[in-house]
Amino acid sequence: MTPKNTPSSQPVDMTEQFRQERVARIKAMGGNQPLQDTAKAFTVESTRAGYSYNFSWMGRPIIQYPQDMIALQEIVWEMRPDVIVETGIAHGGSLVFSASLLRLLGGDGFVVGVDIDIRAHNRAAIEAHPMAPHIRMIQGSSVDEAVADQVRKAIAGRSNPLVVLDSNHTHEHVLRELELYSPLVKKGGWLIVFDTVVEVMPSGFYPDRPWGIGDNPMTAVDAFLKTNDRFVVDEAMDAKLAVSMAPRGYLRCVKD
Ligand SMILES: C[S@@+](CC[C@H](N)C(=O)[O-])C[C@H]1O[C@@H](n2cnc3c(N)ncnc32)[C@H](O)[C@@H]1O
Repeated sequence: MTPKNTPSSQPVDMTEQFRQERVARIKAMGGNQPLQDTAKAFTVESTRAGYSYNFSWMGRPIIQYPQDMIALQEIVWEMRPDVIVETGIAHGGSLVFSASLLRLLGGDGFVVGVDIDIRAHNRAAIEAHPMAPHIRMIQGSSVDEAVADQVRKAIAGRSNPLVVLDSNHTHEHVLRELELYSPLVKKGGWLIVFDTVVEVMPSGFYPDRPWGIGDNPMTAVDAFLKTNDRFVVDEAMDAKLAVSMAPRGYLRCVKD
């Protein structure tokens, strides 16, 4: 098929043209201030309204924004991890989501979830879920050395791990998680840090939480990147999502 305004005597590679248009569009979106302002207003008001608690994946509540779920799907397809390590299980929706993507990839991929408190009803529902063969769970604090050891043992022999951090959102906790789990990711892989958005929320937004402006996953990512040159922020991801719980939290591993 010939694209509009292209003489039929000059065929173009539609796929490449589509890709180039998308790259240009995303770049423009990053500098589109009215769009960025609107996205931020939506992020603040939807978070205040508890929007992230509205969704499920294959029947399990997932505490994520749909935009970030699509981003994760794109990353999984691109990098084809053979294991996904996630901190923060809650109801298990994100574990089931990751497991289902690994199932769709084929192969024997599985997800290892870590949570300090896996509630009995959540564990029972996850273990009874059709995706359970692709799920392993470890109970304990993700920053406990012994737990990190259990994770390393659980993924022994896997060559391409994807890491997703979504547990306690304080600076100290996330920085320690980054130190413990970033070495698992290989060049070409990804590490995703959720709730970096806390840094851009209005002051006093989380009165009953230990995190807030200046003490959150984004400040942890910034500190981590000052001393670690294996990872870079994927700014195109931020620009294209516009609405995300993980701005500057999509990290690409660029070095062995
Ligand atoms: C935001 S929820 C996770 C949501 C889940 N990833 C999803 O998308 O549905 C955060 C979870 O982190 C867990 N958590 C809190 N502190 C933790 C720690 N030190 N180690 C591991 N998990 C922790 C909580 O018990 C809670 O289940």
